[in-house]
Amino acid sequence: MTQTSGTHRGILLAGGRGTRLHPLTATVSKQLVAVYDKPMIYYSLTTLMLAGINEIVIVSSPHDLPRFQVLLGDGNRWGLELAYAEQPEPRGIAEALIIGEKFVENRPVMLALGDNVVYGRFDFLRKAIDGAGDHATVFAYHVDDPTAYGVVEFDQSGAVISIEEKPAQPRSRWAVPGMYVYPPGVAAEARALEPSARGELEITDLNRRYLERSALRALPMGRGVAWFDTGTAQELLEASNFIEAIQSRQGLVVGSPEEVAFQMGFISHDEFAALVDALPACRYRDYLERVIVETR
Ligand code: DAU
Repeated sequence: MTQTSGTHRGILLAGGRGTRLHPLTATVSKQLVAVYDKPMIYYSLTTLMLAGINEIVIVSSPHDLPRFQVLLGDGNRWGLELAYAEQPEPRGIAEALIIGEKFVENRPVMLALGDNVVYGRFDFLRKAIDGAGDHATVFAYHVDDPTAYGVVEFDQSGAVISIEEKPAQPRSRWAVPGMYVYPPGVAAEARALEPSARGELEITDLNRRYLERSALRALPMGRGVAWFDTGTAQELLEASNFIEAIQSRQGLVVGSPEEVAFQMGFISHDEFAALVDALPACRYRDYLERVIVETR
């Protein structure tokens, strides 16, 4: 029962060299590494799904892309339409918008980074998508030390005043998580970028193009949301510990594509049950079987 999604298509960027997590990533793609009990990419995938997006292109390196295809397939069992596209070299996050252009077909798009984990209420995503218009939206997450991230400064109305990549002297404590919503035409904007000193098409430079014509807004995610960038071993462990704590306490699983597909109406209850029936015996299956009974 694949429904067509709302307005937006999704790009999930899951490439890069993963060098900061070496040797963990010597033989396996970073976004396939476990965050507690699931492959990392499940979290960003379900974030896109919870935003109501079910047409998604996965962008990764020629080496890693086939592994994502094995894991996720065409997505039909989850009510998704998944496509795959290669990024030959990691030439920047903004390049994903150029690579995904054909797939996006001049529709608005949400770009998500495969190494970000978000937990909590997702109204901020719906708000960004529903009010998309012709501006670009970044999200803003309050952190103690923003120097490792994009940093945004904005006014009461959400109009962005400045955005900088990993500034030594940040102008605010608002970090920019790896999720972005763009209007049609973003690929042309990305193509107009010059590579940075490190040879990448920088997502922050792209966002600055929108800022320059007052078309960039920032939406604070709120204190009820947990956001992790799993770029380092410590952050990876923190995200895993967080997911473990929430799941154990609530008896609810975070980031299950099967459950989210059902909750979002991408698949019916019968399809959900058939899907779980095909899973091997494991705790993940036990959990989903319980959900099937509880939602009957
Ligand atoms: O996580 C949020 C942060 O992500 C933002 O606050 C920053 O503004 C943004 O630049 C980005 O910073 P990172 O330092 O985390 O970017 P990184 O180069 O680590 O890339 C993020 C992910 O995207 C990573 O898992 C690898 C993937 N990637 C990256 C590049 C540059 C690709 O798949 N291809 C690429 O070309």
